[in-house]
Amino acid sequence: MAEAKSSKTIVFIAFAVGLALMGGLAYLLTNIKGNKDVSGIYTAKYVEITEQTNDPEHWAKNYPRQYASFAKTQQTGTIKTPFGGNAREDKLKKYPDYVRIWGGKMPFAVDYASARGHHYAMIDQAIETKRNQPPFKQPGACAHCHTGDWNKLVAEIGVDNVTKTPYKELYDTGKISKKGVVCADCHDPKTNDLRITRPGLVNALESQGVDWKKASRNEMRSLVCAQCHVEYYFQGDNRSVVFPWANGKNLVEGMKIENQYEYYQKINFSDFKHGETGAPMLKAQHPEFELNAFGLHAQSGVSCADCHMPYMRDGNIKVTDHWVRTPLDNINGTCMQCHRGQSEAKIYERVVDIQTKNKELLRVAEKALVSAIDAINAAKAGGATEAQLAATFELQRKGTYFWDYIAMDNSIGFHAPQESARILGKAIDFARQAEIEAMKLKSGTASAVTASTASQPAVKK
Ligand code: HEC
Ligand code: HEC
Ligand code: HEC
Ligand code: HEC
Ligand code: HEC
Repeated sequence: MAEAKSSKTIVFIAFAVGLALMGGLAYLLTNIKGNKDVSGIYTAKYVEITEQTNDPEHWAKNYPRQYASFAKTQQTGTIKTPFGGNAREDKLKKYPDYVRIWGGKMPFAVDYASARGHHYAMIDQAIETKRNQPPFKQPGACAHCHTGDWNKLVAEIGVDNVTKTPYKELYDTGKISKKGVVCADCHDPKTNDLRITRPGLVNALESQGVDWKKASRNEMRSLVCAQCHVEYYFQGDNRSVVFPWANGKNLVEGMKIENQYEYYQKINFSDFKHGETGAPMLKAQHPEFELNAFGLHAQSGVSCADCHMPYMRDGNIKVTDHWVRTPLDNINGTCMQCHRGQSEAKIYERVVDIQTKNKELLRVAEKALVSAIDAINAAKAGGATEAQLAATFELQRKGTYFWDYIAMDNSIGFHAPQESARILGKAIDFARQAEIEAMKLKSGTASAVTASTASQPAVKK
């Protein structure tokens, strides 16, 4: 009896404790949900994330799976492909002609290296590069793409106060840390939705009547990258970051190189004066988003993330690989998802073949540009004046911009093989035209062309 009674008591106690536990758990769960119920279906929300808590390690508490792959962008020198990979390598040593093409004195002619992982997107640009050391002084506008503290700092002091303050000063005074690309650059801290925050892109899209808030999920999988992997320039005293896309009938037209070039002509913009010839020059930078738009993949709806941030399996959960890197390191997880019929080896060969041909044309363009510089120098030595050289200068400027645009594309022509070859064909033509004009001046048979008539045949398609 006594035994039976005590076992009943135990059952009752166990039941009561169970109830209490369940109640407690339910209370806890509602509390977690109440705090924030927008973390999506992927993980429970453990900490609150705001614009001010921008450290990826803080986000990692809620999203450990995404953080685990994201953290691999710290790796360096571990991947090597024929033209890409995650090492920081001196490109001026590899391509000495670049120094003369850029005129020997401007920042790129002093230091230009290959890109590595997103973790280094502040360290390499503010600290490692000679381009941000005396005699060079860069504006905070660099931080538009080179600090994980952009959104945090903009919320505190406003965009203009960030872009016009010297980049080095932002770091020296502790306004920005060593954080490279962070979660908040692509995700809303509250909802985790993909978002765009960089004014360069927001304004460029607006100039074409595009509202990114209405973009599809698939479009966002490329637009987040377009905040940084694009051609840009700094405008006015605030050094505002502007993408030169406003000169086309629609977004894709606006991104076409001819229209970008015309945009710069219209506002009479130059980045630097050529150190040898004195021509007013433009400097192109990483136009990945623009060039990619002219390739078959973008036109078939393939996004940057499909190749650089594919889905992967983590146990039986599907997550996005946040180790943004060359897809050649993971052909099975990227290309093969759509090109099932081919072997990995064939696909690899196809990429390297496209890139090798692109490099071949780049070298032809470089020889033509160096010949043009030599011819202009000779004409100047022979007494040609700046006024007489105006048309030749414009050909040098245009040829260099068209070459640079492709030389700076980090896919080495893969994203848009035909468009890249078309642009290089024109670059070679402009460079040789510049050489011929300079030779005519030297031999005293200068044609009566003016800067504006010289540029016309070039602009025609
Ligand atoms: C906030 C600016 C920013 C955004 C947004 C951004 N990138 Fe980058 N990305 C960079 C910078 C800067 C580097 C070079 C870092 C370095 O070399 O120190 C880089 C490097 C890379 C690399 C080279 C990595 C390696 O291992 O060599 C790839 C590939 C890349 N980005 C692709 C993308 C893709 C795809 C997206 C969109 C999903 C994207 N990036 C979004 C700024 C950005
Ligand atoms: C609109 C975005 C954007 C702005 C503004 C920008 N960068 Fe970059 N930068 C990138 C991206 C994307 C990469 C990676 C791709 C590459 O290396 O071409 C990069 C790469 C670099 C690199 C590493 C490769 C190299 O060229 O040696 C350096 C250094 C650099 N940037 C310096 C600067 C400096 C200095 C400024 C300000 C004058 C600046 N960047 C402004 C987007 C930007
Ligand atoms: C169809 C697949 C595909 C798409 C879509 C794609 N890329 Fe690439 N990307 C590649 C390949 C292949 C390379 C060459 C990698 C190499 O040489 O190792 C590359 C190279 C790069 C690199 C240089 C990587 C390195 O290791 O140096 C960057 C940066 C980059 N892409 C950015 C982008 C951006 C931004 C977009 C969208 C606008 C994009 N890519 C769309 C396949 C793709
Ligand atoms: C360069 C842009 C970029 C950065 C930086 C970035 N993400 Fe993402 N993230 C993406 C893209 C693109 C997707 C795919 C979204 C889609 O397809 O709707 C994604 C998806 C996600 C998802 C949804 C689940 C999944 O795996 O698809 C989570 C959660 C996430 N990211 C967390 C993070 C965290 C945490 C960080 C920082 C440690 C981070 N992301 C940094 C671009 C980025
Ligand atoms: C999301 C799907 C998808 C992914 C991922 C993808 N492709 Fe494609 N690819 C396509 C589509 C669609 C086309 C257009 C032609 C077609 O319909 O077959 C194409 C065309 C091509 C072409 C011929 C056109 C050209 O631009 O030269 C090559 C080469 C190619 N892909 C290589 C690759 C490589 C290399 C990768 C991985 C880095 C890759 N693709 C990843 C869907 C994809």
